Amino acid sequence: MSGKSYIPLCEPHLGGREWDYVKDCLDSGWVSSVGAYVDRFESMLADYTGTGHAVACVNGTSAIHIALLVSGVMPGDEVLIPTLTFIAPVNAIRYAGAWPVLLDVESSHWQLDISKVAHFLEQNCEIRDGMPWNRQTGRRVSAIIPVHILGHPVDMMALLAVAEKFGLKVIEDATESLGAFCHGRPVGALADIGCFSFNGNKLLTTGGGGMIVTNNQTYAKAAKHLTTQAKCSTTEFIHDQVGYNYRLTNVQAAMGCAQLERIEYHLEAKKTIAERYRKAFTGHLQIQLFENAPWAKSCEWLFSLRFRHLPEGLTISRIQQELHARGIGTRPLWQPMHLSPAHADLGRFECPVADELYASALSLPCSVGLTENQQDYVVESLSSILASS
Ligand SMILES: Cc1ncc(COP(=O)(O)O)c(C=O)c1O
Repeated sequence: MSGKSYIPLCEPHLGGREWDYVKDCLDSGWVSSVGAYVDRFESMLADYTGTGHAVACVNGTSAIHIALLVSGVMPGDEVLIPTLTFIAPVNAIRYAGAWPVLLDVESSHWQLDISKVAHFLEQNCEIRDGMPWNRQTGRRVSAIIPVHILGHPVDMMALLAVAEKFGLKVIEDATESLGAFCHGRPVGALADIGCFSFNGNKLLTTGGGGMIVTNNQTYAKAAKHLTTQAKCSTTEFIHDQVGYNYRLTNVQAAMGCAQLERIEYHLEAKKTIAERYRKAFTGHLQIQLFENAPWAKSCEWLFSLRFRHLPEGLTISRIQQELHARGIGTRPLWQPMHLSPAHADLGRFECPVADELYASALSLPCSVGLTENQQDYVVESLSSILASS
């Protein structure tokens, strides 16, 4: 394999009608922020997730920002979120003027630990006006963002029961998990409102893009309004709120339509890759495989595993460097948010499971177009690095 091109972690796969649809935009001149492909992409994703409404956004981060605003999160509120996540949803809480409360994850599927959510609400909060208020900070807790990380769902049935008991709004960050199912239901469509991302490394990509889905018509209307500068009239420039220019362009949406037409192919490819890795590493003494929950159907977005019994000095970062030297792109988990300098002002949170995962996990190449030869090379390379250490 050496001398051949680099194997990236997760690259776009443009194997459908992307060229045709994008060309159609260029030929017709409909390249900007309205157009038939925007409407079509929205309606295709609403159909796929079985939701009543979808609102296209410029990216997943803006989708989460708007979802927080329309679901009634107010400046000064607290929003519960797992510490083990890409930083975007935590930043979005700050954009809304609210405060993230960072909670630990569970060790089996690496998702938000619902027992920690319940414990926080029961032990740290008191109920006033039907809502939980954090006794220590004096702030209202108004919402929770389950982040379905790496393609696997959060245990939403348990989470929804707790959220209902405490009157919390639930905003699903399904940006990494389009195509995953929880108890047979599509992620993103399980709660008040859900958000997707179509950036370059996601299961489907529009270059950059996002989408809000919801069954709540009021939320959908408010989201469309806020993402389009809160303009009240089609003819005059009158705006009734401070809105945002968070629109997706027709060209991006055209790509999205072509990608979504091929989602089953992408899911099947991801599943095959994950199964081949699992088969190759089963029984390896230094590798602990990520287990999918029996109630979950993962979309296997980013194949990740944990190392154990590593000799002194063989860190995640060294394994990553050695794989890079062999032409293989990998990725560590995100620095957990309770350790992030960007959110140091939030105070101290103890999240030992996230700490352990951060120190021991790595994601391996799993592009839809990854060939068996490339995958075998990744397996051989990783095995030999572990054996020679
Ligand atoms: C968990 C999570 N939330 C939010 C986002 C933000 O999506 P985007 O990059 O489209 O803004 C991403 C991906 O990038 C993500 O992984």
